[in-house]
Amino acid sequence: MQQQRFLLANKTVLGLDIGSSSVKITQLKATKRGYQLLNFGHMQLPQESIVDGSIMNSSAVVDAIREVLASKKIKQKNTAVSVSGHSVILKKISLPVMTHDELEESIQWEAEQYIPFDINDVYLDVTILNEHNEQGQMDVLLVAAKKDMIQEYTNVIEEAGLRPMVVDVDSFALQNAFEVNYETPMGETVALVNVGATVVNINCLHSRVSAFTRDISQGGHNYTEEIQKQLNVSYEEAEALKMGGLTEIDSVVPQEVERVMKEVSENIANDVQRSLDFFAATSATANIRKIYLAGGCAHVPALSRCIENKTGVSVGILNPFEQMDLSRVTDEQAVRAWAPAATVSVGLALRSPDDR
Ligand SMILES: Nc1ncnc2c1ncn2[C@@H]1O[C@H](COP(=O)(O)OP(=O)(O)OP(=O)(O)O)[C@@H](O)[C@H]1O
Ligand SMILES: [Mg+2]
Repeated sequence: MQQQRFLLANKTVLGLDIGSSSVKITQLKATKRGYQLLNFGHMQLPQESIVDGSIMNSSAVVDAIREVLASKKIKQKNTAVSVSGHSVILKKISLPVMTHDELEESIQWEAEQYIPFDINDVYLDVTILNEHNEQGQMDVLLVAAKKDMIQEYTNVIEEAGLRPMVVDVDSFALQNAFEVNYETPMGETVALVNVGATVVNINCLHSRVSAFTRDISQGGHNYTEEIQKQLNVSYEEAEALKMGGLTEIDSVVPQEVERVMKEVSENIANDVQRSLDFFAATSATANIRKIYLAGGCAHVPALSRCIENKTGVSVGILNPFEQMDLSRVTDEQAVRAWAPAATVSVGLALRSPDDR
């Protein structure tokens, strides 16, 4: 679990994003001119297959992975996956300046005070964010993930016929997918906001280094739930109404759907704003120039508008294929339509099998 800084790695991995609504798989190829997309595929998961990052229905997840591999005729085995939820802790801490080896050694002791789990039950990883901060200390990012949760993921991946090589977290994958596609000048701050089905990952970058991360329990599922409740329709009907389809249900007035979409978008935007306010209150680098929206909910027009209104910062859609060659894929239109939701899987596919 570390942030990848070197681009165009020769050896590649499959990027596997097991989201709570669907499995996404990206396969890239590094060429002299940049990255080429070989494959992108996705498959819906039954409701409640993944709850708070834990795999509740492993056979459904295995089947979904296998179906994507078969439909795209993917032979590559080495895989990078990401984990999220309450079993994963990210913490930025300041420590006296030391070498990387010293850091690796002392982190076992240091971590105990920051991690709410038994230290023996977690895998730990540290990344140096800043070797010398203004206080003469170093800033490091500590990541801890529950071992039993990592085991759940590796079991599922192996059962699907793949080889787990790298474990990452969603917000770092988000960052990697962004960095390979967008240039941000030194000194500038941008916010990456990935709105999925049940989680919003926020990662604010200052001078291309992560300065603030936060996960919020909100997402596309909230739209579906509210439409279901307020308009008295089934889950499937609510899903379809959210996507702008199924307008023929007699009892449903389109304006009512729009009203609920706006209401939920405001809730999500409020939470995003609260997180960015917290970042601003704790950092001198929080003057955000732009917000990049990723995840399936980036398609909800009301959401971009609400976030823009609340924060006063311009919002753009993150396209993880912005700088990539898509000439090898046969379904380019479909891939482009899914681009924001593909972001985490693209970030994972950028990792090298030699990373941890
Ligand atoms: N065109 C669209 N309009 C509205 N909502 C959409 C659209 N496309 C996708 N969504 C919603 O986006 C969500 C899925 O996004 P994404 O694939 O990023 O989530 P996930 O990775 O499966 O979930 P999570 O990361 O939260 O576990 C779903 O709630 C889906 O209904
Ligand atoms: Mg996701």
